[in-house]
Amino acid sequence: MIQLIDVSKTFNGKDMVVDNLSLEIKQGELVVLVGESGCGKTTTMKMINRLEEASSGTIKINGKDIKETNAIDLRRNIGYVIQQVGLFPHLTVGQNIGVVPRLTKNDPAKIAKRTIELLEMTGLKHEDYLNRYPKELSGGQQQRVGVARALANNPDIVLMDEPFSALDPITRCQLQDELLNLQKELHKTFVFVTHDVDEAIKIGDKIAVIQDGRIMQYDTPETILKKPANQFIQNFVGQDRLWKTPEMLRALDIMDDNYDNMKAIEVKDMVFVQPDTPLSEVLKLHEKHNLSIIPVVEQGVTVGVITEPSILSLLAEIIPGSEGL
Ligand SMILES: Nc1ncnc2c1ncn2[C@@H]1O[C@H](COP(=O)(O)OP(=O)(O)O)[C@@H](O)[C@H]1O
Ligand SMILES: [Mg+2]
Repeated sequence: MIQLIDVSKTFNGKDMVVDNLSLEIKQGELVVLVGESGCGKTTTMKMINRLEEASSGTIKINGKDIKETNAIDLRRNIGYVIQQVGLFPHLTVGQNIGVVPRLTKNDPAKIAKRTIELLEMTGLKHEDYLNRYPKELSGGQQQRVGVARALANNPDIVLMDEPFSALDPITRCQLQDELLNLQKELHKTFVFVTHDVDEAIKIGDKIAVIQDGRIMQYDTPETILKKPANQFIQNFVGQDRLWKTPEMLRALDIMDDNYDNMKAIEVKDMVFVQPDTPLSEVLKLHEKHNLSIIPVVEQGVTVGVITEPSILSLLAEIIPGSEGL
């Protein structure tokens, strides 16, 4: 668990770059810090591994103030991936991945084995890549090596600062998917910085939206889309983004709760859904039973209806996003 408690940062005593920020990140969560360029994301992240020292406030990892840990030791146990990759150009892929384990004097045979595992885990065949140099790799392959290197010492925490921002959209999407797989497999805590709302929504368990060094909202992607805390968030995420994220829609979001003949709907033998039934289920039921109307029922009471026209207009809106449903 990472806790930032009333953390502020000023450079040279001037403007507050990070302003009294508090944030709790649980073990195994993937938390995204998102906000416009210059809002303080990188500075916030760098305070967690003490590349920057907080001007005030406290940062704790697993309950312990990070000031009580030597900064070098702290960093060796926190993986760090940045946009510019930062691989050593004169070292091979294998040597790059083994840098930190060698510094911490791990057994060379174990390092070699682990390096191969990590390469495979990040989607690179070890026999093809182990002995190559960074300049012989594409941007996406370099970033995979960057991720493998960050995991090399088996840290509990991995910090990632716009790691995929320089990649083309297809490669970027692949790396996002693989990061999600890694998180599922490894249960590490990831703190991920991006200025891209789509990326934040796709990968975050939780998202902290930052403006001027302050957290405007810290919640799940679904809640941020459906219940933006203020106008800034609403503008930042965009009004229509929820409709482009159909996997987050539920019966509640598309039902008509003001339907004229609600009382007359006989639920007994009918197919019905609950308010939190995902849109994908609603669509499946609609298709299977060829229904013109689906009641939304909560504890025996009809609270709304989903009508065929509303389903059709919704589909029209979210196509091509609806193919997978
Ligand atoms: N070392 C530094 N010295 C002075 N100002 C800095 C330094 N690092 C960052 N800043 C300023 O702090 C603000 C936040 O920067 P940063 O955390 O990099 O934002 P982000 O990552 O959200 O783009 C910016 O105005 C930036 O110019
Ligand atoms: Mg930054």
